[in-house]
Amino acid sequence: MEASAIAHSNIALIKYWGKKNEELIIPTNSSLSITMDAIYTKATVKFDKHLTKDELYINGKKEEGKSLERLSKFLDIVREMSGEKIFASVKTETNFPLGSGLASSASSYAAIAAASAKAIGLNLDNRELSILARRGSGSACRSIFGGFVLWQKGTRDDGKDSFAVQLFDEKYWPEIRNVIGISSTKEKRISSRSGMAATVKSSTLFEARLKYVEERLNSAIEAIKKKDFHVLAEIIMKESNNMHAVMLDTWPPIIYLDDKAKEIIYSVIEYNESLGENVMAYTFDAGANPHIYTTEEYVEEAKKILNKCGIIQTIVCKPGPGIRYVEK
Ligand code: PMV
Repeated sequence: MEASAIAHSNIALIKYWGKKNEELIIPTNSSLSITMDAIYTKATVKFDKHLTKDELYINGKKEEGKSLERLSKFLDIVREMSGEKIFASVKTETNFPLGSGLASSASSYAAIAAASAKAIGLNLDNRELSILARRGSGSACRSIFGGFVLWQKGTRDDGKDSFAVQLFDEKYWPEIRNVIGISSTKEKRISSRSGMAATVKSSTLFEARLKYVEERLNSAIEAIKKKDFHVLAEIIMKESNNMHAVMLDTWPPIIYLDDKAKEIIYSVIEYNESLGENVMAYTFDAGANPHIYTTEEYVEEAKKILNKCGIIQTIVCKPGPGIRYVEK
């Protein structure tokens, strides 16, 4: 009862920040992302009747505490779905340095969902896998699919219609790049899980965000359909600003952007202005690592901007594939 799967990370253009249901992980708004080819997690899950509890190894290191608790809670869902009551040993390996500040929960839980479902003998299609991965980490539901992915928030209370769908595959717009800067190696002060809960509870601007975010999402999809990077870039930057505005409006405030991030924001805007066209777009998640979405021809310029702002290490990603099963 063992299986391995690989899932790639995804970086949102329209962000998920806020839950309608914390237990089931149903989001307050739909979101949109691109799956990244260069950063991924491989998970191997083995259900073993000799185990007396679940085990977790991340990049070879045995984990206890919160991350194991979270995994066990997730595996309980898989056990309940299958009717089996066996514990599992889970090993995950990321190809990007952990502690680099790049979130690994999306790729990890997408890979764990796929590997655990297969190992325990559940025969799930990608939609069902997306719903399952969502229970591990919201953003993981998008990593089941490659290319341009929409997570529809759904309307049901049981979350059965809250899953991701692929809008366009990874070959649709192959010139798209995400130049990721490795900015901070520090553990983030506030996890996205508790941060977004605090925002929903205390931000007065959050209601306004919800009013406009889906409009922005539809405009982003239109721009992707037309492959209009100039329009898409403006939406991506405004969306990042908007999410970080409701974060700051949370009490106590959540501030993920640091001085380098602010420098990058201004530099990208200035570069676009100097060309009279948006050829790059910055976006930030729950951390200070910058993501510069751009097209192939501006990758070197994007790296130069990051370097100038004090960021040495970069990872360049293209649109990447969805989950796949592999040998151990
Ligand atoms: O990784 P999660 O599921 O806790 O959510 C993180 C959400 C953001 O990365 C901040 C935005 C997004 O949509 O990925």
